[in-house]
Amino acid sequence: MSNKKPTTSASITSVLHEERVFPPAKAFSQAAHIQSLAQYRKLYDESVKSPDKFWGKRAKEELVWFKPWTQVLQWKEPFAKWFVGGQLNLSHNCLDRHLDTPTANKAALIWEGELATDGKPGEERVLTYKQLHREVCRFANVLKKNGAAKGDRVLIYLPMVPEAAIAMLACARIGAIHSVVFGGFSAQSVADRIHDCGAKLVITADGGFRRGGVVQLKKNVDEALTLKDAQGNALGASIQKVIVLRRAANEVQMQEGRDVWWHEEAKLVGVECAAEKMDSEAPLFILYTSGSTGKPKGIFHTTAGYLLFAKLTSRYVFDLKETDVYWCTADVGWVTGHSYVVYGPLANGATSLMYEGAPNWPEPDRFWRIVEKYGVTVLYTAPTAIRAFMKWGVEWPMKRDLRSLRLLGTVGEPINPEAWIWYHEVIGHGRCPIVDTWWQTETGGILITPLPGATPTKPGSATLPFFGIVPEVVDDTGQTVPRNTGGKLVIRKPWPAMLRGVWGDPQRYNEIYWTEIKGSYFTGDGSRQDEDGYFWIVGRIDDVLNVAGHRIGTAEVESALVSNSKVAEAAVVGRPDDLKGQALVAFVTLKSGVATNPSLREELRRHVAKEIGPVAKPDDIRFAEALPKTRSGKIMRRLLKQIAAGGEIKGDTTTLEDFGVLARLSHGEE
Ligand code: PRX
Repeated sequence: MSNKKPTTSASITSVLHEERVFPPAKAFSQAAHIQSLAQYRKLYDESVKSPDKFWGKRAKEELVWFKPWTQVLQWKEPFAKWFVGGQLNLSHNCLDRHLDTPTANKAALIWEGELATDGKPGEERVLTYKQLHREVCRFANVLKKNGAAKGDRVLIYLPMVPEAAIAMLACARIGAIHSVVFGGFSAQSVADRIHDCGAKLVITADGGFRRGGVVQLKKNVDEALTLKDAQGNALGASIQKVIVLRRAANEVQMQEGRDVWWHEEAKLVGVECAAEKMDSEAPLFILYTSGSTGKPKGIFHTTAGYLLFAKLTSRYVFDLKETDVYWCTADVGWVTGHSYVVYGPLANGATSLMYEGAPNWPEPDRFWRIVEKYGVTVLYTAPTAIRAFMKWGVEWPMKRDLRSLRLLGTVGEPINPEAWIWYHEVIGHGRCPIVDTWWQTETGGILITPLPGATPTKPGSATLPFFGIVPEVVDDTGQTVPRNTGGKLVIRKPWPAMLRGVWGDPQRYNEIYWTEIKGSYFTGDGSRQDEDGYFWIVGRIDDVLNVAGHRIGTAEVESALVSNSKVAEAAVVGRPDDLKGQALVAFVTLKSGVATNPSLREELRRHVAKEIGPVAKPDDIRFAEALPKTRSGKIMRRLLKQIAAGGEIKGDTTTLEDFGVLARLSHGEE
């Protein structure tokens, strides 16, 4: 294997913007699952011409069924049912099926902790498929013992430890519906989610390590369970039990009758637990995600279609082989962690690596140490992380042996060509293909992506659709626009892993996704297709921001701000940011009599962190006397965006109510 010297940033810059095309290397293609563009096109054509045949064949070959389905797809727009009449179990498909094969004794999960409880970095655990199966069965029994049954909702609020995957798989085993909440969300967010889905149990930990500190997960749960809505009803009223994992040797309060320790409960149950027979369309999980209005909505996915799609995309996009050590750096609190840390890799019998902590703890080479230590072959991470590594300097990756890597992936936000080239040269040594994968919480799995042995790549483009996916770029009337013209990205046909709805609100599901462009799924993203049919995704065109790969609704942050007693009005917009893609800028007017002072900014930032979580803290708060509004009273966000970006104000301002406001804002006056 070559260990070519990384290119310097000067030579990187010089090759940019020539629109380079990177064809797959011959040696890679020859060993890949999909070996040429022609083979991809043939399969793709089959998949869209005869979807029932294509997916039916795969479902039969790839999944273990307790009862076969009778119909591949039942489509009553906007509601899809896949593999109707079939029964299976997801944990059975990820675990039991491997137990009488050589995979049984292969590592299913390799885990590295950020810190050990003795304060030293690099604690590690390996669970083979057999061991993981045993732990999942044991914990499934713990769940049952604590009252969880088929159809119940279970909230998981854990650090990135193997128990997070164990808890998810155990829920799937007994047919409970999990809702994982990212550890960076606040007590209020936990309470809102419990209330929305009516969860019966919470699974949490005494703490998790992040940048050397302890994240107080149990404490947040305790607080969440005391919170009330505006009418005085307890948001956590549905919770009967809290199962607490001992992770951080952190002191926590245990409430008699409600709180139990994972390790103590585990001693009281057996390790035999038959997998429940679940209908293909049984809900599997709910994940809350931000939209352009209101509080985050509970996107839910079901069993068979999701699993099949997660399995196939994992295999083809990451070209998974028996010998791979595959590492997706996402937290299980996001959909990427569901589909590409846990379910997709395990369904394929692959080895999936989990890391608990931050990429720069204790030093900025932590990722590269992990690659070197475990011989990681496939690495899947986010553009924000790549841009941070660029900033920290090439000396960190250069110190480590990265020759085991053979494929690199990115997800979560558009990757700028500079970051793509850096990733390719400095991390991939010019030898590893890059898969820029476009998808969403709602899509369940990757929809637009190169296949690494087949698709020539262009830095910044997610390239072509996966099998069965029919994306198009359209105008406001739903007409497909000509090549190289920008428009709205829609998906024309249903696919197996598409969301089945918004939890408890079928109407909202229809309104958000299926009314913008009649007959198509609206993604909320803008895109164009180039002359080769490649998709270039520009990002959200609704009021959703993508900050460091985290999806944040401007409306959510605004309502968090106005819930502070000092704030009269708030408008939140995005500003381009070199590192995070977008930064959050809040324009705030204060209630009369409240004076601005230097600590108020920090106070409001802390308030947003408390209401939503640290991920939603505004990067910049600007106090204003008034916000620019149209004569009909609508906040002129377009103008605020231009002001936030420090740019010139363009376009029509004739409907603006008060030109004076605009002049003061654009001169930075408060
Ligand atoms: O704007 C797109 C962006 O992330 C959004 C989805 O966010 P979320 O539901 O949190 O899921 C993230 C992980 C799948 C999309 O609407 N996005 C995701 N991947 C890409 C991307 N934008 C450009 N290129 C990508 N590869």
